[in-house]
Amino acid sequence: MSNQATNKDLQSLLNRYEKGQICVVADKTLIRHDCWNRYEALREMPVLWLETDEAHKSIETVARIWDFLFENDITRSGLLVCVGGGVLTDIGGFAAATYKRGIDYINIPTTLLAMIDASSGGKTGCNYRGLKNSIGVFAAPAETIIDTQWLHTLPPRQFLSGYGEMLKTGLIDSSDFNGLWSRLCSYDLERMDPDELEPLIQDCIAVKEKIVTADPREGGLRKVLNLGHTFGHALEELSLQGEPEKILLHGYAVVYGLIAELYLSIVKPGCPSEPLQQLTQIVLHTYGKPDCKCSDRERLIAKMQQDKKNEHAGEINCTLLKDVGQPVINQVITKQEAEEALDYLFSI
Ligand SMILES: NC(=O)c1ccc[n+]([C@@H]2O[C@H](COP(=O)([O-])OP(=O)(O)OC[C@H]3O[C@@H](n4cnc5c(N)ncnc54)[C@H](O)[C@@H]3O)[C@@H](O)[C@H]2O)c1
Ligand SMILES: [Zn+2]
Repeated sequence: MSNQATNKDLQSLLNRYEKGQICVVADKTLIRHDCWNRYEALREMPVLWLETDEAHKSIETVARIWDFLFENDITRSGLLVCVGGGVLTDIGGFAAATYKRGIDYINIPTTLLAMIDASSGGKTGCNYRGLKNSIGVFAAPAETIIDTQWLHTLPPRQFLSGYGEMLKTGLIDSSDFNGLWSRLCSYDLERMDPDELEPLIQDCIAVKEKIVTADPREGGLRKVLNLGHTFGHALEELSLQGEPEKILLHGYAVVYGLIAELYLSIVKPGCPSEPLQQLTQIVLHTYGKPDCKCSDRERLIAKMQQDKKNEHAGEINCTLLKDVGQPVINQVITKQEAEEALDYLFSI
């Protein structure tokens, strides 16, 4: 899977490629970012600045990147450097993986979510026919450069969204990375200091890398990464049908999903109640209560029953926990259990 490097290593990475054979795609919002100025080596290269909302995560944007690579005469031994959040690294990686049957690419993720999730694991792609990530390929980046200095300008909501995926990672980590879950519980989310977060980011990436290396094509084990996502995706999708200011960022939907699924983890595989209590405290203190009503219950359950992760139509399938670090995949949930978990979530 992908290798990690630091900003200092970038020049030696770039030296591996012929001069004139490197192009950069970057998120337009970073054009005046202080951090960008530190990447002198990249500033001398051709840069394509892109809009990165989900509407631009399209095959048209991918084609713009292909055109940019052709216009710069990039050969099969060239390199594409992708600088941005998960939208940019997903489409940049996909464009690189398909241009002339695949050239190398390097990710420089600039959001917390992209650092710990989107830029490792090798999934690349774009949205198509209104369906998120419906076209794509598995193609790991040649390197990923983690530079937490980017995080200084990240809006708090984006920071917390990325942190939601980190909390999930702490709950499933079976290798006990120096007590990752308890370290995540005690990180000061009011200060959101990127430097203090760095070792936690490195450990979360290592946990994900270990899982995807064991199951690169999502055969089974990788399902542990779905903890919080059965309920989370339903909440996220429902919010997309409502008012724009109430749309849930992915990591927010995941923390609410984790609450529902930790509740079920107590009821079903017998998880102790402590992780749920710890998570509920963090959520109430920093994320706020979910903005859902009991009348949303049936629509949420219908969405979970249609989830493409289900093996049989109509059933609800979750990853749950026996304890911190002990995820169990393929747990079938009855409609009544799902209702109970949602009632708990709405009551926090
Ligand atoms: N490939 C994978 O395995 C994987 C995993 C998780 C998510 N994803 C994908 O990632 C995307 C979400 O990623 P994201 O949360 O990074 O969203 P994003 O790329 O949309 O970035 C979020 C916002 O932050 C801005 N931004 C980026 N860097 C910044 C910085 N340093 N300072 C200030 N603002 C900055 C962006 O312009 C954007 O407005 C989704 O499309 C999702 O499908 C992919
Ligand atoms: Zn996720």
